[in-house]
Amino acid sequence: MNEAPRRDRGPRDPASPLVGANIVVAVTGGIAAYKAAELVRLLDKAGAHVEVAMTARAQKFIGAMTFQALTRRPVFTDLFSLTEEAEIGHIQVADRADLVIVAPATANAISRLAAGRANDAVSAIVLATRAPVLLAPSMNVNMWNHPLTASNVRKLVDVARYRVVGPGDGFLACRWTGPGRLAEPADIVEAAAHVLSPQDLTGTRIVVTAGPTYEPIDPVRFVGNRSSGKMGVAIAAAAQRRGATVTLILGPSALTPPVGVATMSVENTAQLQWALADATKDADVVVMTAAVADYRPAKEEKQKLKRGDLGPKATVDLVANPDLLAELGKKRGTKKTPLLVGFAAETDDVIGNAQKKLATKKCDLVVANNVAEAGAGFAVDTNHVTLVDTSGAEDVPTGTKYTVAHRILDRVVAIRKAASQPTGRRGKPATSGKPKGRPRPS
Ligand code: PMT
Repeated sequence: MNEAPRRDRGPRDPASPLVGANIVVAVTGGIAAYKAAELVRLLDKAGAHVEVAMTARAQKFIGAMTFQALTRRPVFTDLFSLTEEAEIGHIQVADRADLVIVAPATANAISRLAAGRANDAVSAIVLATRAPVLLAPSMNVNMWNHPLTASNVRKLVDVARYRVVGPGDGFLACRWTGPGRLAEPADIVEAAAHVLSPQDLTGTRIVVTAGPTYEPIDPVRFVGNRSSGKMGVAIAAAAQRRGATVTLILGPSALTPPVGVATMSVENTAQLQWALADATKDADVVVMTAAVADYRPAKEEKQKLKRGDLGPKATVDLVANPDLLAELGKKRGTKKTPLLVGFAAETDDVIGNAQKKLATKKCDLVVANNVAEAGAGFAVDTNHVTLVDTSGAEDVPTGTKYTVAHRILDRVVAIRKAASQPTGRRGKPATSGKPKGRPRPS
């Protein structure tokens, strides 16, 4: 069998899987076709090379010119066009695609795809491509609920391994209410990024702690810190994007946990300890990003302290909290323990202190965080860290917390890979590079 010619794409950065990806947006004829313009704009903005194919019916809802302007590329509309098809254009488009998104995918289009038809630009590209296909259905609620549509979608998912995003539930153009709305363009972009991300953490159970702990003084006051939860939430989202099953244990935070991540909300160290004990029972990896208070008030007042209660000069007695990470480290060797990633929030001798924590807390990896540096550490959107393990220290340049999260996970993947090899040892990754490639449907 001849292999279709394919461009060598090289490894895709899991932190930005859409950058440089060739994405075909295949537009079929439904009222939501106009929303495909916003989808194309968002994909283009995210760095993808977007090409558009349209059915004749789609062109009744939105003009090809709109997509040509947005993509700065010709739009495929006609399987029998002498110019578009001078070099069998639809096959070339299908071959160079990293992903084909059918949006909107009408009931009619879904039925034709399920039948394996190839009688227009859209169905021919979808049938010819070896890239993953993402369907974004949009139709009347009764069409969506019809057993034939359900059976067609099931066939496309089970037999052709297509993915589906949406449809959303709500008020439809046909004045019915229910499922049938095209998924929001931003959600389709997120689904596309998910499909294009390397799934190198599939089957891995990861527990991530994030945010501060609030140690109560009385019902309204606490001892806490400035952690926002952003770094830990970014790690949870990145791990989930790469296929991990993630449990996030989140201290008090204004953040919304990532969709699909099981989240346990905790307030203080005692609750975090309890949640950790439960979540780590069968975990493969634990990432302790939380800024756990080292001390808590010796006594929690049941009533709010009045201003005069403590006199002009008050002190709060503190007692040491358990070191949760060190407790996990102590269990090493006694039974199958998860890979342990600790953080070290430091303001001086950052690497030296991180190395001490690596040894005393028995971690596989410590993420050293100079929290005195501008644009790093607590409550900002960016971070600058150093990965410290027994093999040395690797600087991770300043980037968004999401990008930094992926660099930490790259190392987790490498450590696990090294450990799974017969001669491999934890803490000595065979490579520290990015995961190579991404799975494609066979
Ligand atoms: O949440 P953000 O605003 O995004 O900020 C991110 C961050 C600065 C909080 C994060 O990047 C970070 O550095 N987290 C670690 C904070 C911390 O408590 O560092 P530490 O050096 O005090 O503790 C070392 C390690 O021991 C940490 O993994 C910590 O979770 C753990 N620890 C600490 C104390 C304790 N009683 N139990 C613990 O398990």
